[in-house]
Amino acid sequence: MPHPKNIFLTGATGFIGSHLTSRFLKDGYHVKALARPSKNVSARERVEKVVSAAGVTRFENLHVLEGDISLPHLGLSDAARAEITSSAEEVWHCAASLSFEQQNRAEIFRMNLDGTRHVLDLVKELSGRRLHHVSTAYIAGNRSDVALETEIDVGQSFKNPYEESKCRAEMMIADAHEADAVRASVFRPSIVIGDSKSGRVTHFHGVYAFIRALWTALERLRLRTPQRDFIRLPLRVLGAENQTLNFVPIDYVIDGMVEISRRADSAGGTYHLSNPVPTENRFWLPNICRILRVEGIQLVGDSSFLKSPMTKLESLFQKQMAFYYQYLQGEPRFDCRRALAALKNTGVECPPVTVEFISKMAGWYVDFLDAGI
Ligand SMILES: NC(=O)c1ccc[n+]([C@@H]2O[C@H](COP(=O)([O-])OP(=O)(O)OC[C@H]3O[C@@H](n4cnc5c(N)ncnc54)[C@H](OP(=O)(O)O)[C@@H]3O)[C@@H](O)[C@H]2O)c1
Repeated sequence: MPHPKNIFLTGATGFIGSHLTSRFLKDGYHVKALARPSKNVSARERVEKVVSAAGVTRFENLHVLEGDISLPHLGLSDAARAEITSSAEEVWHCAASLSFEQQNRAEIFRMNLDGTRHVLDLVKELSGRRLHHVSTAYIAGNRSDVALETEIDVGQSFKNPYEESKCRAEMMIADAHEADAVRASVFRPSIVIGDSKSGRVTHFHGVYAFIRALWTALERLRLRTPQRDFIRLPLRVLGAENQTLNFVPIDYVIDGMVEISRRADSAGGTYHLSNPVPTENRFWLPNICRILRVEGIQLVGDSSFLKSPMTKLESLFQKQMAFYYQYLQGEPRFDCRRALAALKNTGVECPPVTVEFISKMAGWYVDFLDAGI
């Protein structure tokens, strides 16, 4: 029987990290996970809870270490560090701040840039010096051309400090790889959504916040008009109908990263785990509205608000959804040929975003909200 792999992983309480941890535990690996406690819950309990939600029932191969990526040495004791460096064969770095507000810029860079530096310091002490880094396709920022997997900084500007910090972190990793200090692979998912088969999701970022904001507004209206099935909610959303959002289901991201990481030639490679066919806004929004049983929501350009000013609800919605509004105006196009080539004949494929797919994804979440869990 082959010796089980030993993994050190950050971000195990997060969306991607919890699914990765679960996958490794199910595959029989030993996982040492760096996590923070919350006010009342220990780091171990927090990790166990999220990996249970992702289907893990046995925890004997899970070891949780309390730490913080923003601290030197990840906030670990010398003994804990030695335990990791003597056993871990590879490090998976998933922890990050997903905040995007300008006012949090310093904090975002402390997490995403300094945090990655602290992880790199640890990786350099491992005998194999192997790192798998989870970045984002949106390091492409405001590029209007096609972003290649071989490119990082081409002088692009960024929509927010999150994109910029993740780009700087990638550049730092590329330098360390170039200097032969580490052997790194970089994965760049696009917008990660629920499981492609069930629609199930465990963390509610991005488009889920968008659905939740609409759902909440509709709940209030339904209290007033309980007998109506479809609700009419005239709401203009600033966005371009023919622009796209690039959705990828969590199972594709996890299967893709694990599969690629097993290839001997993946060290030094960067992979776009993006959807080869991004989804036009004019396609996903009406389908989400159908699931929410609402009509009257439309994507409009700036000129619409010049003609008739924003209503209170519209400006509230725009404020709440500031992050998403940045992306509804358009996103870069991601060339994912290298990832597709690495995944050819492996059975790992990114499903197209069909009506059925959106119904499953949004339907699962709306049922979840309706159930009030
Ligand atoms: N979700 C997406 O759509 C998406 C798309 C592309 C790329 N990504 C990338 O994927 C990675 C994971 O994202 P995610 O969606 O899983 O985010 P997430 O659910 O917000 O999880 C972030 C994780 O990072 C941890 N973390 C944050 N600051 C930390 C610190 N100072 N010390 C230790 N741990 C810390 C969080 O721990 P706590 O629970 O203690 O806060 C959490 O486990 C990130 O690098 C992100 O940039 C995500």
